[in-house]
Amino acid sequence: CGIVGYTGHQQALDVVVDGLRRLEYRGYDSAGVAIVADGALASAKRAGKLANLEKALDGEPLPTANTGLGHTRWATHGAPTNQNAHPHLDESGRVAVIHNGIIENFARLRTELERSGVRFTSETDTEVVAHLLAAEVAAGSELAEAMRTVCGRLDGAFTLVAVHADVPDRVVAARRNSPLVVGLGDGENFLASDVSAFIAHTRDALEVGEEQIVAITPDEVTVTDFAGGAVEGRRFHVDWDASAAEKDGYDYFMLKEIAEQPKAVSNTLLGRVGADGLLSMDEMRLSDEELREVDKVVVIACGTAYHAGMVTKYAIEHWTRIPCEVELASEFRYRDPVVDRQTLVVAVSQSGETMDTLMALRYAREQGAKVLAICNTNGSTIPRESDAVLYTYAGPEVAVASTKAFLTQLIACYLVGLYLGQVRGTKWGDEIRSVVRDLSDLPSKVDQVLETMEPVRALARALASSTSVLFLGRHVGYPVALEGALKLKELAYMHAEGFAAGELKHGPIALIEDGVPVIIVVPSPKGRSVLHDKIVSNIQEIRARGARTIVVAEEGDEDVVPYADHVVRVPECPVLLQPVMSTVPLQVFACEMASARGFDVDQPRNLAKSVTVE
Ligand code: G6P
Repeated sequence: CGIVGYTGHQQALDVVVDGLRRLEYRGYDSAGVAIVADGALASAKRAGKLANLEKALDGEPLPTANTGLGHTRWATHGAPTNQNAHPHLDESGRVAVIHNGIIENFARLRTELERSGVRFTSETDTEVVAHLLAAEVAAGSELAEAMRTVCGRLDGAFTLVAVHADVPDRVVAARRNSPLVVGLGDGENFLASDVSAFIAHTRDALEVGEEQIVAITPDEVTVTDFAGGAVEGRRFHVDWDASAAEKDGYDYFMLKEIAEQPKAVSNTLLGRVGADGLLSMDEMRLSDEELREVDKVVVIACGTAYHAGMVTKYAIEHWTRIPCEVELASEFRYRDPVVDRQTLVVAVSQSGETMDTLMALRYAREQGAKVLAICNTNGSTIPRESDAVLYTYAGPEVAVASTKAFLTQLIACYLVGLYLGQVRGTKWGDEIRSVVRDLSDLPSKVDQVLETMEPVRALARALASSTSVLFLGRHVGYPVALEGALKLKELAYMHAEGFAAGELKHGPIALIEDGVPVIIVVPSPKGRSVLHDKIVSNIQEIRARGARTIVVAEEGDEDVVPYADHVVRVPECPVLLQPVMSTVPLQVFACEMASARGFDVDQPRNLAKSVTVE
């Protein structure tokens, strides 16, 4: 969910709705706002996308006000209806609350409140907070104090934001295991799930830690812990501006973000190579000594970031000879994994807020492991709770389906592998320089790929009525195949599966019938030619069974031509780095397919960009 709170000199409703627009990628099942005007609350909420709420507000405008809050929802408790949309008000209509997360003991609290005569109007877990807060304030507590008391009664994860009709220039928030940042303005202050909500107004922000309460007025920000003790938050400056989060003439954010990939890749390499051509990464905050002691690397991540993690395994093991495991963050801590002080856990997350990843990293640290975060979001929770962080510099990614963040995650993962090799001496000067040079060539190569995407778009349109598309790859091409399939599922709501090409004969080949489109990611014919030849055989096997073969292969690879119905060319590059290029056509394919099928490319159904529940 996305949340915004505002108090200051501007029209609160405008600021809040604009903030929600920028946060809508966090959830779009429903949206709602509440403002404090003339000693009373006014609120509006609607099921569906923010546009529905905006239409309702045009029809029935709310009074002007300088304090307000807003919410865009990814439903957990209760269907995405008007009634279940946030904010939730207490019975007297004096308190409004919005919430991101899950209150695990809400059923018990609700029964208790109902027994005391409170009538509920929604099925949400959030509504209990509105009633509890109202009761605390009615009993004489100041709003922040009331929030502190109520939080003491809640189990689970939450960011809560509340306003009260009696205090027109104050917004109060609490955070436990869900994101919250403060935007620091001049005569105005903001609360939000992430900085994009207030970036048009200020680039100065304040991190809010775990189990803290924040109260903002136009001129003051007060942070306390759950016990009421004063806390000093960490200030930070956001290094991109509002225009970075605009569509900029593109039809979709996703198209813009695909196009930004060369820049994102080069920004992620920037400043990480010294004059001697070797890697220099002081920002890692892990000493060479600590890195030399590592005897195992475990990468944890979800969704697209997990596919970046899978590629990392090939690179890390090849360059460092350290065993590397990759695991879905949501599985990791539940299986008693072998992790200890000599394990380096790499947590990959674009948002830095994914709850599954956060919980896995906390577990790893409890076991004594060192955690290195690879993250795209300054001020987010995962880097804050990690021992070290390597930021990706993709800039804000708004489309729900991850593109430029994925490519930069790959780059950051390569840097980690290579740096480990450099520090431990498994890779030597010239070898490192040579990989670094190959990495530096990637932005222009990705550019070349982007320039040749028109036939891929045409192909996607031609295949728009397919019922299923399969993806095959070997080695690092296997995670690319999985990523291609994930993109198609997410965006085009089409059955799509990725397989390791060698596994095909052990089952999936039964899916091949006349005309089934199969996209095959082919490794470079050079160097590891055995791998290349094996996959060429796999292409023949499926073609013989009627598949329509779409082959992603390097320029100059003529071996694939006789068996390919369509060839998509990518520039030559060392095999380990190939995913940076071969993923791009698959992104374009999925994007075009979604648009050809008439679906919302940037906000696919049921998904959210940042999933802050487990
Ligand atoms: C959500 C998004 C995915 C994303 C995953 C991990 O499920 O819909 O696109 O890959 O979360 O997100 P993270 O922010 O941790 O990289």
